[in-house]
Order: sequence, then structure tokens, then C-alpha cells
Amino acid sequence: MRKKVIAGNWKMNMLPDETIRYIEELTPLVKDSKAEVILCVPYTDLFYALLNVQGTNIKIGAQNMHFEEKGAYTGEISGKMLKSIGVEYVIIGHSERREYFAETNETVNKKIKSAFSYGLKPIVCVGEKLEEREAGKTVEIITNQTEKALEGLSNEQVENVIIAYEPIWAIGTGKTATSDDANDSVKSIRTKIAEIYGKETAEKVIIQYGGSVKSSNAKELFSTSDIDGGLVGGASLKPDEFSKIVNYDE
Ligand code: 13P
Repeated sequence: MRKKVIAGNWKMNMLPDETIRYIEELTPLVKDSKAEVILCVPYTDLFYALLNVQGTNIKIGAQNMHFEEKGAYTGEISGKMLKSIGVEYVIIGHSERREYFAETNETVNKKIKSAFSYGLKPIVCVGEKLEEREAGKTVEIITNQTEKALEGLSNEQVENVIIAYEPIWAIGTGKTATSDDANDSVKSIRTKIAEIYGKETAEKVIIQYGGSVKSSNAKELFSTSDIDGGLVGGASLKPDEFSKIVNYDE
């Protein structure tokens, strides 16, 4: 049985004082969670978040990283830097980074390899646009993104990747994929991984769903055969709402 992994992606929200208050509120609400609980916070909140989750079951992730270790890359943060302060997870290839910051399948692949080299666990996002969905290309797009993202990784590394299937048309729109649709897409990703890395490896990979997840739809989504939790944007900004998503099965 794969463990459920539920991650909040705060995107460009929250200041340090809000981070501290949020963690104070969230901690007792999720302390008995069977799921892995992760908060992916802005760089400027990382240190405060890490200090304040000490002794709790909440893990901290970043939302992006550069693939080089160091050097003349003004404004960038490396995996080594993240690891040095105790970050455990990092989102790679979010659709907003692909759309606004020229992230490509190639940079995603380089970043995943770099993340592993520093012992960070990557949460890799894939997902189709509305026009691609309407053209019947969902499976082609998401399996291709998955294949390119994982290119050159060992089976052991693939088993430690978290994939977040996030249909772009469902992000921040209030439109959620139906649980059957989302589960079918997630299954197609798992099948592609099985084709390349074998069934045993594919069965171990955590594949989340993301896109307008909230407390009212989390249970239905996370109770399907292949969806192993969620990457939650807007609904992760309120500790009470996020805790209900984490505790979806109570
Ligand atoms: P929303 O939950 O706000 O739709 O965002 C999803 C997302 O992009 C998480 O990474």
C-alpha cells in the first residue's frame, strides 16, 4: 500500500509571521495524520517554517530550484542551498513555472537529477492544457512529460519521485477533474512508468492529483485506486481547511 502524501503549495503567498501562526494552528490539527504532510512555502518563509515544524510531523518543501550547484545565476537558489537549511522536498516543473518562467521538459529533468544529488525529494508536476484535453491529447501530453522528466533516472530514484498530475484547466479555477477522470490520467502515468521501469517500480511511485482540491472533494479523489494524495494550492492557505484535506478519511 502506498502512503498518501498531501502537500500544500502556497505559491507566492504568506509572510514569515503568517507562516509561524499557520504552523502553530496546523500542528495540532494534523498531528495524528496517517498521510505525509508537506508545506511547500516561498523561499523567504523556508527558514521560519523549518524552525517551527521541529518536533512535528510536518515536512517542508521549496517550490523550485536551479539545477546548477552554484555560480553566476543571479536570483536563483540551488538544491544544495535548500538542503543546507534542512528542506526535504522541492516542487519541480509546476505548470506556472512552465508557462511563465520558461521551464521545459529538459530543465525539469536536470532539476530532478540535481535534487536527487543533494538528497531532496522532487515533486514533479505534469498536466495538460484545456485545448490539449479537448483535442483528446491528455494521455499523450502527460505521459510524454513524465517520460522526459524521468529520463536517465535509476529505478530507485524513480521510486522516490512524487508526481503531481495537475490538469492546468483545473488549477485555481474551481473546476476539478472528476475523480474517475483524474484517476484514469494518473493510471496512464503509472502505466507509462511501468513500460519503462517495470511494474514493481511503477507500483511504488506516489502520484498526486492537483487542481482545485478542497475539503469537500478530497475524499472522493483520494479514495480512488491510483491517486495517492494531492498537491493543494488555494485551499492550503487556511490551516483549518488544509487540515480537513489532510484528514479526509475521518
Ligand atoms: P489550486 O488548488 O489553487 O487549484 O492549485 C493547484 C496547484 O497548482 C497546486 O500546485
